[in-house]
Order: sequence, then structure tokens, then C-alpha cells
Amino acid sequence: MSSILSLSDVTVAFGELLACDSVSFEQEEGELLAIIGPNGAGKTTVLSAISGVYVPRPGASIKFAGGDDGSDLELIGRKPHQIVRLGLSRTLQNLGLFPGLSVFENLLMGRYVHQRQNLILAGMFTPGIRRDEVEQRRATEDLVDLLDLREYLDEDLEALPYGVQKRIELGRALAMRPRLLLLDEPVAGMNRPEKFEMTEALGRVRAERGTTLLLIEHDMEFVMGMADRLVVLNHGQMIAEGTPDEVQANPLVIEAYLGADDEDSLVADLGGDALGLSTPGDQSPAG
Ligand SMILES: Nc1ncnc2c1ncn2[C@@H]1O[C@H](COP(=O)(O)OP(=O)(O)OP(=O)(O)O)[C@@H](O)[C@H]1O
Ligand SMILES: [Mg+2]
Repeated sequence: MSSILSLSDVTVAFGELLACDSVSFEQEEGELLAIIGPNGAGKTTVLSAISGVYVPRPGASIKFAGGDDGSDLELIGRKPHQIVRLGLSRTLQNLGLFPGLSVFENLLMGRYVHQRQNLILAGMFTPGIRRDEVEQRRATEDLVDLLDLREYLDEDLEALPYGVQKRIELGRALAMRPRLLLLDEPVAGMNRPEKFEMTEALGRVRAERGTTLLLIEHDMEFVMGMADRLVVLNHGQMIAEGTPDEVQANPLVIEAYLGADDEDSLVADLGGDALGLSTPGDQSPAG
């Protein structure tokens, strides 16, 4: 196995605050790695550093096996759109769709990065352009099937359930056929059936496309069930790394969640059960 991603000494500062502080980890190709930690731990900041939105302090390195021959490339210093073109995409913590466009068009938008022809040329109708358009549409059709979206194609985007909108957003990020996909809280705000659908969809993405996933998630049932390995952040620092079992048994991790400001919600966040903890003052609903 070889690393697809490797972070070394990644520090991102906002004024005095070190949102992530000397974070280092590696991810193997095909491995599902999850980043967890209490609110404000620096999880999104790490994804933003990888995707080129924030530039870490000097001394950091972020290597991605994105060369044509699979060789490692340094990502620091590249712009977000250049990183996407290397095969590394991302979905956002808050939904990022185009409300005025149909479901199909939203998915198709994700393909533009792959469009070979110059956009100025696109105004002229040539056989080359036509072929390209057919290719883009075929690729988008594949996504519709992969993510089980066919029944929604003609519906008004804004009227669709949140879980479906999140799958469309996933489709847009996948349209670029990334080798590595970063997902910021893919099941946040979802009900159980929606979480189940998303879990199934991500499973198909891994199995059918071989996409490597790096995700952030607060939902412990979801993340412990899905991740091969986890990295735990607290106050910007990496406090643990390991398999779901190792992480759940780690006293530093339990302490980080218990010691957080909003104790009740964070223990609940970590899914009390998953850690063998109960929320203080926890009351089981009758029935
Ligand atoms: N653009 C910014 N400017 C200033 N401070 C920021 C900025 N982005 C994040 N921070 C701060 O950096 C810290 C880490 O934020 P980050 O969003 O990475 O946390 P997180 O782990 O993703 O939290 P959550 O689980 O709530 O999404 C927080 O204290 C946050 O307030
Ligand atoms: Mg976040």
C-alpha cells in the first residue's frame, strides 16, 4: 500500500489562534480516514489547508499522489482549482448547490472542469463540441445511477429533501472523478433513512470508482461504522490516531469530549454508547 496523502507539520494560524497546530498524518490509497473532534477543533481548517483555501505556515508539507504516474506532488502553493484538477475534490460543511439549476444541470456543472474545449469555443457549434457535450452528459448519467438520483431529475432542487440535496452535492464533487474526495460532515442534519442512503452511496463510490475518502463527521455511529482509521483533533492539536476501537478506548479522546464546553451535547455527540459513556442526567424516554 502507498500513501495517497501525507501531511507534515501543518499549522494554520488566524491571528494568535492556531486553528490547526503541527498536524501530521498519512492516508493510504483506498483507506477511509475520518477526522473527528469537538466543535472548533480545527477539522474544517485541515481540509481547507489540503484543498488550498488556507496556506499553512512555512515548514509544512502536504503531499498528494496526484502526478500522472502517481508520483507525489506538493500541494502547498497551488490554488484550489489547480488542486481539483490534480484529482482532489471536496464537499462543504454547508450545502453548496446552484438553486436556479435542475438536478441534472447541477451534476453537469461539476463536469466543466473536465471539459477539454476552451469555453470561448463553446459558443460555436462544431462536431468536436458536440462530441464533448455527449461525453459530459454520459458521464453525468453515470453519476445519476451511482447516487440513485434518477427519480429526482425533474424536480425543483429547493423542494427536495435535505438528504437528496446532499447526495447531489456529493455527485458534483464526484463529477470531477477525483482520486481523493474530502467530505465535511456528509451526514450532518440527516435523519436515519437519509444517513443510511448516504452511507450506501459512499460505499458504492468506494467500490465502483475506487475513490479514496477523507471525511469529517460528528455522528459517531456513522463514523465508527465506516472509518478504517481516525485522526482526533482537539484545540488544533492531534491527540490520537488509530482504529475506531483504539480511538474509543483512548482516555485523551474521552477527556477531550467530556471536557468540552457543552458537555451534554458533546457526550451525546460522541454517541455515549459508542464510548461506553452515559450522558450525565441522561434519561431514557419512556417506552
Ligand atoms: N476564517 C477564520 N478566521 C478566524 N478564525 C477561524 C476561521 N476559520 C476557523 N476559525 C477558528 O479556528 C478554529 C477551528 O475552526 P474549524 O472550523 O476548523 O473547526 P471545526 O473542527 O471544523 O469545528 P466544527 O465541528 O464546529 O465544524 C475555531 O476556533 C474557529 O473559530
Ligand atoms: Mg467544521
